[in-house]
Amino acid sequence: TRYLALVPAAGSGSRFGGPSPKQYLQLNGRPLMWHTLQALSQVEAISEVVLVLSPGDEWFDDFDWDLPKLRVHRVGGASRAESVRNGLEAMAAGEQDWVLVHDAARCCLSVAAVERLIATLADDQVGGLLALPVPDTVKRADAEGRISATVPRQGLWLAQTPQMFRAGLLARALAGSVADEVTDEASAIERHGHKPRLVEGDAQNFKVTYPRDLALARAILASRKD
Ligand code: C5P
Repeated sequence: TRYLALVPAAGSGSRFGGPSPKQYLQLNGRPLMWHTLQALSQVEAISEVVLVLSPGDEWFDDFDWDLPKLRVHRVGGASRAESVRNGLEAMAAGEQDWVLVHDAARCCLSVAAVERLIATLADDQVGGLLALPVPDTVKRADAEGRISATVPRQGLWLAQTPQMFRAGLLARALAGSVADEVTDEASAIERHGHKPRLVEGDAQNFKVTYPRDLALARAILASRKD
C-alpha cells in the first residue's frame, strides 16, 4: 500500500479577503501553501503529494515550487468534497492505498505529527485524523448571544487534518452530491457508518483563516529554520 497526500486548494478563502487566495500569501519567502506541501513531502512514507487547484487558478505558475513529490491537477470543484473527489479520481489511487487529505492552509503541520498519524493508523480498518482535545469551556449561544447551555468539554475534540482513509472507502463516502455538505472527510466516513479514530495532533497545526493568524504562522515557521 502506498501513502498519498491530497491537498485541496481550490477554495477562494472568502473569510480571509485580499486580492489573491490566502494559500499564495508570502510567508518567510515562500507561498503559504509551499510550507504545507513541503511538510508533507518530507514525510518519508508519503510517495506523492497531489495538489488540487481550481481550473481558473492564475497564481500557481508565478512561483517556484521545487518539490519532487508534487503532482498538480487543476480539477477543483464548487465544494471541498467535490475537489477531493476529483483529486482522488485524478490521482488513480488503488483501493487499499492510504490517502492523507490535508488543508492547504494548515501550513505549520509538523512531520512528526504526520508520522504519528501514520504509525497509529497503519493497521486500522477505517482510518482517522489528527485532532485536539478542546481546552476551553464550551458554551452554546442563543439568538441574543446569551448562554443557553454549557456543553461538557469531556470527550470533545477539534478536527484537524491530515485525515487519513483508504482511497476506496473515501471515494465511496464522498460519492454523490449529498457529500457536498460535509466540512471534512471524517464526516463523510461517519455517514457511511464507520467510526474514524482520533489521533492527538498539536496546536501549531492550526488553519490560517484570518489575517491575524499570519504572525503566528510566520513565527512558527521561522523557529523551525536551521
Ligand atoms: O474553506 P475551508 O478553509 O474550510 O477550506 C478547506 C480547504 O478546502 C482549503 O484548503 C480550501 O482551499 C479547500 N477547498 C477546495 N475547494 C473548494 C472549497 C475549499 O479545494 N471548493
